[in-house]
Amino acid sequence: MIIAVDGPSGSGKSSTARGVASRLGLRYLDTGATYRAVTWSAVDRGLDLDDTAAVAQRARELELEISTDPERQFVIADGTDVTAAIREPRISEVVSKIATNLDVRKELIRRQRAVIDAAQPSGGIVVEGRDIATVVATDAELKVLLTADQEARMARRGAELGSVTAEQLRDQIVRRDADDATVSEFQVASDGAVTVDSTYMTLDEVVEVISRLALESVAQG
Ligand code: DC
Repeated sequence: MIIAVDGPSGSGKSSTARGVASRLGLRYLDTGATYRAVTWSAVDRGLDLDDTAAVAQRARELELEISTDPERQFVIADGTDVTAAIREPRISEVVSKIATNLDVRKELIRRQRAVIDAAQPSGGIVVEGRDIATVVATDAELKVLLTADQEARMARRGAELGSVTAEQLRDQIVRRDADDATVSEFQVASDGAVTVDSTYMTLDEVVEVISRLALESVAQG
């Protein structure tokens, strides 16, 4: 069983996907964390992020361990626990550069598929990202496109980050929407995807709706 949850920054897809995985006893993969880990490593080594060949090489060489336990998330890159570091603004500000590198994408998609395959014997996995339904797992039993209007996403990110200026928030959401829009497979409604607009829903409600859809798709075989 594969449940794909795609959506933009601040749509609530991480909390939602983790919640659905916990509720249904499935594994969970945060594919954004793989792009963040490569970014961390490239920054840590002082690579020129515009040197696409060097960054792609780093992606291929990086030893990456990513937890698929929805209750206990961690990311280890070349032996260093980078769980917190990959969420720092200095990484968020440049991660789109790495995510638009097509050779990096190729390598990370290969790794993401291996994680998805490895989770199947234990029942399945909820995979969150931007291109899961359209590229990474086109055979997913359930494909969800999670949306929320830009104001709601800015408010949520603001609550998450604590004290940030309106300018920083705008950068987090509006600029990253624009950067992400340069990757063609992102957030196009794929065949059979269900769009869930979370603007006026609580996290529990969204988890409930998606869990129900997942159980229905299993029942329909
Ligand atoms: O979801 P996030 O903010 O952690 O994602 C970090 C970056 O990685 C963001 O620029 C989008 C990109 N990303 C991607 O290109 N493909 C994915 N499947 C997931 C995230």
